Amino acid sequence: MTLLLYGAYGYTGELIAREAVDRDLDVIVAGRNGTKTRGVGIQLGTESRVFPADEAGYNLDGVDAALNCAGPFVETYEPFVEACLETGTHYLDITGEFRVFEALAERDREAEKAEVCLLPGVGFDVVPTDCMAGHLHDRLQGATHLRLGFEAPTSMSGGTVASAIEHASGGGKVRRDGAIETVLPADEGRTIDFGNGPKHAVRIPWGDVSTAYYTTGIPNIEVYAAMPERAARAMELSQPVSKLLSVEPIKRGLQAVGRRLASGPSEEERESGRTYVWGEATDGERTVTSRLVTPETYALTVDAATTAAGRLADEDADLTGYHTPATAFDPEFVLELDDVEGFFDEVDER
Ligand SMILES: NC(=O)c1ccc[n+]([C@@H]2O[C@H](COP(=O)([O-])OP(=O)(O)OC[C@H]3O[C@@H](n4cnc5c(N)ncnc54)[C@H](OP(=O)(O)O)[C@@H]3O)[C@@H](O)[C@H]2O)c1
Repeated sequence: MTLLLYGAYGYTGELIAREAVDRDLDVIVAGRNGTKTRGVGIQLGTESRVFPADEAGYNLDGVDAALNCAGPFVETYEPFVEACLETGTHYLDITGEFRVFEALAERDREAEKAEVCLLPGVGFDVVPTDCMAGHLHDRLQGATHLRLGFEAPTSMSGGTVASAIEHASGGGKVRRDGAIETVLPADEGRTIDFGNGPKHAVRIPWGDVSTAYYTTGIPNIEVYAAMPERAARAMELSQPVSKLLSVEPIKRGLQAVGRRLASGPSEEERESGRTYVWGEATDGERTVTSRLVTPETYALTVDAATTAAGRLADEDADLTGYHTPATAFDPEFVLELDDVEGFFDEVDER
């Protein structure tokens, strides 16, 4: 079955394209730049298709699943999803942008009707934390509050920096009583042992604020990332400056600089890095805590995205509608990925 991979010459897209070819998936590489797309196609021995994202509708012939790796995804997901719904093609991406998750969740019924699966977030953001959410919900079905978090020492790719800048002026996000609310970024600090010793952590607007709700139905959700206290304080102080990022030319300028400066982790960093994922769910009386240890974030993304896309492109996959990784497969999905350890479970009776 055929998988079209868009954004195939980006840092992450190319790694996924290589992995998909290594796993003998039938891959078509795609992107908007002809020379770069065809270059990857020639290196990997695959068909290549060159088109801007808004012409996806004319370019999905013979494709069973499309994996969009071209971010910031707020700029690319819409025409792709339209094209997938029209042509009966499954859609996946590696977004972590809650606006994209929320927009796709709203199209659940349309996707059901078109017999298409919409499965965003098949990278580090949100596979391990989403599976963690599902696992904690299985352990404590009546949970009312869910907190997720991770410690991920890694360097970022240009696309990740550009995506972070894209949303930086939007503030922090939490879910309260089922609704997504805006809070100050890095506003809430606490000490968390993600599995590698206690660390200072702050609340971040991670994709799970959207997805974990669809996975678990738990109405109150927060996500934390390990961050040294000094860095968290600097983030708080830079608040007035981050407002400037809503000014389009300033945002574009900074994104261009970020893309030039950030080259992503080296092969050695991807191979040796470890990431610690933590979550706790409580119903006010019982609190359950679990942890996972995973490979470095981009290494995990390559494995998770390739595995998820391979499953959806499979002839026997009959998933339709909007899904999170944990509802598409199940919370154990993360344990099928290479070198993931867990779930390490604890219970705290109050
Ligand atoms: N979920 C996760 O954990 C996870 C992990 C890794 C990456 N990501 C996300 O994936 C995205 C890509 O990351 P990356 O590391 O591969 O970045 P990258 O090296 O900058 O590559 C981005 C790719 O997307 C293409 N692209 C960007 N905007 C486009 C548009 N409007 N239309 C068509 N193509 C467009 C780029 O093409 P041009 O060069 O022609 O612009 C390039 O091929 C980022 O948003 C990043 O945050 C998520």
